[in-house]
Amino acid sequence: MEPLAILGGTPTKTTAFTTGKRFGLEEAKELLEALEQNTLFYHFGAKVKQFLSDFNEIYGVKHSVATSSGTAALHVALGAAGVTVGDEVITSPITDQGTLIGILYQNAIPVFADLDPHTYNLTASSIEARITPRTKAIVVVHLTGNPCDMDPIMDVARKHKLTVIEDCAQAYLTRYKGRLVGTIGDYGCFSTNDFKHISTGDGGIVTVNSGEEADYQITHAFADKNYSRFGTAVHRDLKTIAPNYRMTELQGAVGIAQLKKLDWICSQRRSIGDRITEGLTGLAGVTPPWVDKNNESTYWFYMFRLDVDQFTCSRDEFCAALLAEGIPNRAGYIPDVCYMQPLFQNKQAYPGSHFPFELSETTYERGLCPNAERILQTAVQIPMSEFYSKQDVEDIIRSVRKVADFYIKG
Ligand SMILES: Cc1ncc(COP(=O)(O)O)c(C=O)c1O
Repeated sequence: MEPLAILGGTPTKTTAFTTGKRFGLEEAKELLEALEQNTLFYHFGAKVKQFLSDFNEIYGVKHSVATSSGTAALHVALGAAGVTVGDEVITSPITDQGTLIGILYQNAIPVFADLDPHTYNLTASSIEARITPRTKAIVVVHLTGNPCDMDPIMDVARKHKLTVIEDCAQAYLTRYKGRLVGTIGDYGCFSTNDFKHISTGDGGIVTVNSGEEADYQITHAFADKNYSRFGTAVHRDLKTIAPNYRMTELQGAVGIAQLKKLDWICSQRRSIGDRITEGLTGLAGVTPPWVDKNNESTYWFYMFRLDVDQFTCSRDEFCAALLAEGIPNRAGYIPDVCYMQPLFQNKQAYPGSHFPFELSETTYERGLCPNAERILQTAVQIPMSEFYSKQDVEDIIRSVRKVADFYIKG
C-alpha cells in the first residue's frame, strides 16, 4: 500500500489544476455597447432584454424576469405566487440562506422536509408529511446541480394546490427525464453570482412557466417596486409592496456573452462529474452522489459520502489526508442544517420580534430531518471547474481511492 502524503509519502497530485479565463473580449464588447446606449436602465436599454430573450430560447420558455441576485429571484417568485403573512413554505434544510430569505421577507414561515440520502434532494413523501392547512408553496433546491425527482413532487403539489418554485441556483442545464429544471415547476430561479456556472458579478433570473401574460406581468412588477411597465404608460399604483431587484444593463451585457459559454461549461462539468463517479464506484466506504440514469447533473460541486464506520479515520482526517494528496476539499457543505441556525432556534428573523414564527406551529429541533443531518456529517465536497484537465480528474479519483484504501478497516 502506498504511504499517504500526510504521513510522509509522495502526494498523488504533482501538477497544478488547470484553470481558465471566464471573461474575455466577448464580455468587453457587450459592456462597451451597453455604455454607448447612454443608459444603464434595463427598461430603456437592449442588453437585459437580449439576455432574457437568449435565456428564454435556451430554456424554451416564453417569459422570464431578470433580478439583482438569486436571492432576489426567489423572493420575486414567492411574491408573484402570492405567498404572504403566515403562509408556510416547505423547503430543503441543506441550501444557501438565499433560498430562505425571501420566504421570511414575505412574513411566511420556512418548513423543512427531509432529503434523499444519496441525491441530497427533497423527496415527495417528506414534503407531503410536512403539509398543513397553512402550506402555500414548495421551494425545491436542485442541490449541486442534480435534479430533484420532480414528477412525484409535482403530483403532491397539484393534489394539495401548492405552488412549486425551483431553486436552480446550482443547476444550469440540469435535466430531469430530458426536461430542463427550472421549466417544470411554476417558477424557476437562477443565480448569476460570481460562483455559479455563469457570472454577471451578481444577478438572477426567474422563469414564469405558466406562459400566461398576467403571471409574467405580476412577476415583472414584483422585481421593480410594482411599477407596471407594459405598453406605453407606466403604472405606479401601489396596492401591496414589492422590492426593487432590477438588473442593470451592465449585468445583462455580461450575461449575453456568458450564456454563449453555458453549453460548453455544463457539458464539461457533466462529463467531469460523471467520470469521478465512475472512478469511485465500488470503492469500499465511499458512496458517490446518485444521479438517476434518466437525469443529467451539471455538478456545481461534487459531493460524495463516507460510511465513517468502515474507516479507521474520522471524516476530518479523511479530508486532511485528501488535501495532503493535493486535492482541495471541504467537509460537507454548510456546517449544519439550516434549522439549527440561531435565526430558527430563536425564531427571530427581525430583532426584538418572533413574527412571523408565532403564526405557525412549525418547530425546529435537532433530529427534524435525520437524513439531511447525516449527509452534512459524512459528506466530502470537492470543488468543480469546467477547466479541469483529464489529468486533474484522474488525479482526484486516484487520491480519493488512495486515502480510502489506506483507512478502510481490515
Ligand atoms: C441553492 C442556492 N439558492 C440561492 C442562492 C442565492 O443566490 P445569490 O447569491 O445570487 O443571491 C444560492 C447562492 O449561493 C444557492 O446556492
